[in-house]
Amino acid sequence: MADFVMEAKHVYKTYGYKKTKLEKNPNQQNCVNAASIVEAVKDVSIKIKKGDIKLIFGPSGSGKSTFLRCMAMLEIPDKGEIYLGDECLTKPGVDLNKARARIGFVFQHIYLFRHLTALGNVELALRQVLKLPKEEARKRALAALAEVKVLDCINKYPSQMSGGQAQRVGIARAIARNPDIILLDEPTSALDPELTGEVIDTLRDLAREGTTMLIVSHEMPFAREVADEMIFYDEGTIVETGPPSLFFNAPNTDRAKKFMTRIINRTTKE
Ligand SMILES: Nc1ncnc2c1ncn2[C@@H]1O[C@H](COP(=O)(O)OP(=O)(O)OP(=O)(O)O)[C@@H](O)[C@H]1O
Ligand SMILES: [Mg+2]
Repeated sequence: MADFVMEAKHVYKTYGYKKTKLEKNPNQQNCVNAASIVEAVKDVSIKIKKGDIKLIFGPSGSGKSTFLRCMAMLEIPDKGEIYLGDECLTKPGVDLNKARARIGFVFQHIYLFRHLTALGNVELALRQVLKLPKEEARKRALAALAEVKVLDCINKYPSQMSGGQAQRVGIARAIARNPDIILLDEPTSALDPELTGEVIDTLRDLAREGTTMLIVSHEMPFAREVADEMIFYDEGTIVETGPPSLFFNAPNTDRAKKFMTRIINRTTKE
């Protein structure tokens, strides 16, 4: 048995893009040179044990989402290794669909099928990913929707739900298949403060139940209350890690100090 639910070892991910017409070098059409490569993740390693709640935070564009997507192999790292328990997901020939079925993912922008009800969205994930028969999928979908307290929405379509309800359906979809870990990418950033509170309450319940989670979030009161470890991420890399008490009192690096000051000022003004 592996000691860790998930582990990333020295992960790198770059994006290269083709130059626009104006940027093109007349002698080298469509060239991708060093200037057009974004290093979104640079040598990032992380270990997550069962029941851990780790929270990644840092400036916009620093590569947090890219790293999270690499963990779920929704982006394939250029270099480095991702382990899910004992299984190395970055090794050639791994059945990624099977591995991804053990990882729940909640997206920044609420992402539900518009033509399906809340129940339909959660059921579909169970039937497609776990190949569960209809009855079993329904039972588990209803249990997950009850857990995030949206049973009153089961027959509603996404357009008939509030943002907070829709995001909780997204969380139900992630937990319904009982994954080893849930990765959440700024699950409240698209919501106004009242609806943010509803989603944070759901995450707090999951935390209490011992759900293993890696969350990108800037909800600092939540971080302070539930995170075992906070990870300050900037310019594609982990700058500093530690318990919430470290970041709320005296972070070691100037970059983390400045960021914490900015974010705490912003939260108190809101
Ligand atoms: N599909 C892509 N193609 C090219 N570049 C990308 C792609 N996705 C992200 N990037 C670039 O990679 C860098 C990291 O982006 P990423 O979305 O991971 O940052 P982030 O920390 O999650 O930002 P935010 O806090 O705004 O969500 C940025 O410079 C971004 O423009
Ligand atoms: Mg992001």
